Amino acid sequence: MTFQIAKTEAISKTELYANLQLQLRSLLEGERDFIANAANLSSLLYHSLPDLNWTGFYLHKGGELVLGPFQGQPACVRIAIGKGVCGTAAEQRQTILVDNVHDFPGHIACDSASNSEIVVPLIAHGELLGVLDLDSPSLARFDDEDARGLNELAAILIQGCSGLK
Ligand code: SME
Repeated sequence: MTFQIAKTEAISKTELYANLQLQLRSLLEGERDFIANAANLSSLLYHSLPDLNWTGFYLHKGGELVLGPFQGQPACVRIAIGKGVCGTAAEQRQTILVDNVHDFPGHIACDSASNSEIVVPLIAHGELLGVLDLDSPSLARFDDEDARGLNELAAILIQGCSGLK
């Protein structure tokens, strides 16, 4: 199977996320394994959204977050709930946008190239499954439209997978 990631230059963010929804639905077709689908979503985001240096998942296991499928430089493996941007989004079960990670108390620096970050919690059947994390080398790279778009993609991923607690 070959999957051609659509060219996304010169389109609005709204169109970009609408295209990403179509591409994600196509990737999920016929496959309900969460790790496989999360791996493909991290690749889709990394190669489709401009100005990123890391995209990936931390999964809620044994009361902490453990590194899951990702694209980018090797990252820290375990993050306690409540720590860093990821652990804070997991604890609060809320999307967190950080314009400048150097100003975020307790930010965990995995890649020195990162300057801004967005973390979306993944909730399935009321349980915290993990978080989706995107990092950018630019300050204030992410806005409310990214938050909405990424939450919608996360919801499509969750709906498209089986065996989630
Ligand atoms: N910066 C994150 C850690 C994960 S990396 O960005 C991949 C945090 O503060 O939780």
